[in-house]
Amino acid sequence: MNVLGISGSMQANGNTAYLIKMILEAVTEANAEATCEFVSLGGHHIYPCTGCLQCREKKECTITNDDWGQIAAKMQECDVLVIGTPVYYYDVCGQIKNFIDRTYSLWHDRKLSGKYVVTVAVNGDCGADRALETLEGFANAHEFIYAGSVTGKAFLPGEIKDDAAALEDAAAIGKKIANLG
Ligand SMILES: Cc1cc2nc3c(=O)[nH]c(=O)nc-3n(C[C@H](O)[C@H](O)[C@H](O)COP(=O)(O)O)c2cc1C
Repeated sequence: MNVLGISGSMQANGNTAYLIKMILEAVTEANAEATCEFVSLGGHHIYPCTGCLQCREKKECTITNDDWGQIAAKMQECDVLVIGTPVYYYDVCGQIKNFIDRTYSLWHDRKLSGKYVVTVAVNGDCGADRALETLEGFANAHEFIYAGSVTGKAFLPGEIKDDAAALEDAAAIGKKIANLG
């Protein structure tokens, strides 16, 4: 089983990254044969979808001079995607939205269909519900199999370590992923 964790935060070691890494650690602990990889979108260049619609014919994105392609290739290879975002203005952050929008090129032939997905959102106070809905919209459109979600509450970097409920949920969902067929 190949599990890919993607954090959309520009903070490569921020709260979202921490929670996703916790999930991946729990997977590895419960299933020694699982291969887990973590990717932060922080520090990566991901241009927005231009809406050119050329991918409808070409079945690939015409933008090739950024980092989206190499991360999307990893996503196509995984069995389980753990995708997370910090909450910005009651929704996902811009970097993950750019990443998601660019997957339109994979949607036409449903190249992500049948993979499992776990969604993660970290907010300082509120807005995680809507961010999770946005991630679920992406997952539903691509016909992922929804395997659950984790919400964290943290504002400053590292504060997620104080959210005992989120850490517990992360460990539980990691175990669940480890036992997915
Ligand atoms: C531009 C911006 C917008 C934010 N909007 C919200 C918000 O709407 N609701 C909220 O509870 N927290 C909001 N926050 C706080 C972040 O969600 C919080 O700091 C989170 O822990 C950051 O995660 P990260 O460390 O993974 O980047 C915002 C932070 C920034 C920088």
